[in-house]
Amino acid sequence: MLYIGIDLGTSAVKLLLMDEKGDIKKIVSKEYPIFFPNPGWSEQKPEDWYAQTMEGLKELVADCDKNQVKGVSFGGQMHGLVILDENDNVIRPALLWNDGRTAKECDYLNDVIGKEKLSELTANISFTGFTAPKILWIKNNEPENFAKIRKIMLPKDYIAYKLTGVHSTDVSDASGMLLFDVKNRCFSKEMLDICSISEDMMPAVYESYEKIGNILPDIAEELGLNADVIVAAGAGDNAAAAVGTGTVGDGRCNISLGTSGTIFISMNQFGVDKYNALHSFCHADGHYHLMGCMLSAASCNKWWMEDILKTDNFVGEQRAISKLGKNHVFFLPYLMGERSPHNDPNARGTFIGLTMDTTREDMTQAVLEGVAFALRDSFEVAKALGVDIRKTKICGGGAKSPLWKKMIANILGITVEVLANEEGPSMGGAMLAAVAAGEYSNVEEAASKIVKVVDTVEPEPELVELYEERYQKFRKIYPACKDLFGKLN
Ligand code: XUL
Repeated sequence: MLYIGIDLGTSAVKLLLMDEKGDIKKIVSKEYPIFFPNPGWSEQKPEDWYAQTMEGLKELVADCDKNQVKGVSFGGQMHGLVILDENDNVIRPALLWNDGRTAKECDYLNDVIGKEKLSELTANISFTGFTAPKILWIKNNEPENFAKIRKIMLPKDYIAYKLTGVHSTDVSDASGMLLFDVKNRCFSKEMLDICSISEDMMPAVYESYEKIGNILPDIAEELGLNADVIVAAGAGDNAAAAVGTGTVGDGRCNISLGTSGTIFISMNQFGVDKYNALHSFCHADGHYHLMGCMLSAASCNKWWMEDILKTDNFVGEQRAISKLGKNHVFFLPYLMGERSPHNDPNARGTFIGLTMDTTREDMTQAVLEGVAFALRDSFEVAKALGVDIRKTKICGGGAKSPLWKKMIANILGITVEVLANEEGPSMGGAMLAAVAAGEYSNVEEAASKIVKVVDTVEPEPELVELYEERYQKFRKIYPACKDLFGKLN
């Protein structure tokens, strides 16, 4: 049997084909553009996602035994707002998870409706990237588009709809809308009222590993697949990545170093951080998770390498770094503002501590370290809640760097487990399809049979100490710049 995982990412859609044992047969990636129509705004066209997903699917199954393909599922960039009209046509480009235009709407939700009320209804407060403030932004700024809305969808759910004709979402992705009662795993009527939208605009809610339908006959024909291929609801990319890295069950941790950077803690019981600095969401395994999300992670390194240093030699640039734990340069990785734990759309990327002897290597090192320090900020919030984490899995593009893994192990002071494959969301998507098809009885069983740890990176006491000193300096920089960031913007 073969299963397909579709990871609808921010820079590309990544498609993965695996067999029932979890052996990867093929991986395909197809890029699409991202638009920044104003500083801090970020949009993509759902039509581009779909066109590239179909291209990717054709390539993915081109040379396999198509009769063996039994299921498809997803991991998808979270929070994005896709709006459809009465004919299910896309009304305008989607507003993405890292779009910061909704500061005013967030203030309304957090200050007028009130954080306490939001937390009581949804287990979360408003962040600019979340879906509810985006709906209010459309209402306030594009009333003609708001009037046309008949369906509200998340990015991967639009692809699921195009493949099956079913308007669906899953509990993990729905959790990031700020419209969802996370504890009870259903939409909050009160939140829909607050956003002036009705229940019939919302997709049907499924657990991530549940079947939503079969691929439509004409799509099956176009791809050369059987029409009995099932489609499972899938998950937000972080929950899907957690499935793909075996971060299921109680008290496990996964770090994702993609365009965004997240620290994800799986929990069997529902729980909320009382300051809501961490998100409290449903997990794809039927339980819950806490998560800190930074808006720019591997994307900081990509920006520094490609846009500034004008090189694609990521490995060579990192090989030149030799003084771990000793660097006089610091970097704040807030190129798109920051979500966890600061919740500040005005925050900006910053180098600080430069001197006449600062080298290119020092600055590259500072970028990588800055991302790891910012992850530690969320890790500290989790520790303060009493969550005891001694080890983590890791995935995403940045996880390919041995140096970055070493920095993370020493900056967080925990063991980093290296996996046989670090595909994360696409692997998790394929695993959810396998569970929905009955190949495994539940997500935990699939993870325990499929995910393999092949190596560990242990923290080294001397480096941990050096990095502890540097982290204590790093954490003073944002508070010192905070007011200035507000004035600069
Ligand atoms: C999570 C988040 C990001 C996106 C990236 O809350 O906003 O990780 O899901 O795709």
